Amino acid sequence: MMAEGRKRVKAKSAATRVQGSRIELRQSPIHGRGVFALKRLESGSRVAEYKGERITHREADRRYGITDDSKPDHTFLMTLDRRYVIDATPSRGWAKWINHACEPNCEALIYGDRIYIHTKRDIRRGEELFIDYGLNVDSDDDPARYQCRCGQPGCRGTMLGLTAGAAA
Ligand SMILES: C[S@@+](CC[C@H](N)C(=O)[O-])C[C@H]1O[C@@H](n2cnc3c(N)ncnc32)[C@H](O)[C@@H]1O
Ligand SMILES: [Zn+2]
Repeated sequence: MMAEGRKRVKAKSAATRVQGSRIELRQSPIHGRGVFALKRLESGSRVAEYKGERITHREADRRYGITDDSKPDHTFLMTLDRRYVIDATPSRGWAKWINHACEPNCEALIYGDRIYIHTKRDIRRGEELFIDYGLNVDSDDDPARYQCRCGQPGCRGTMLGLTAGAAA
């Protein structure tokens, strides 16, 4: 679901309460910045749109596909369909900060040309929100770069999806 760049960025650690929202951004024990519930979130509720610019995969590759020290450490891309991807890099939306877990409490659902984050179960106040990235990467890409550190009992050890290696 989520496309991925080649490098990593050092995330900011300050907590940011999103105005009028049910979530905050703060340091995650899993990686960098993460998204946390400020209130109980009911199962099946829409918590955010994965906001960004709709661009083609080709354009995403042009922007982020090549290892280049001058480019950002990692990308904020989520696949919409075979042709398009949402580039959340310039977006002020918080959904782009959601980390991956193998047994996620949220999921990304596509409605037309938009992607929304929905809860998969009730989420307690203070819990971190996760989705399963199910990354698709180039077949020549090193899977070791996508190791998962979610630490859940069902962790499959990777942020890659089952179809990894196929075109995103
Ligand atoms: C879109 S960012 C998510 C926000 C990120 N925590 C940050 O502060 O920039 C995606 C990156 O977070 C890291 N990440 C997210 N979930 C992870 C997990 N379960 N295990 C290891 N790294 C993870 C990976 O480096 C991935 O490339
Ligand atoms: Zn995992």
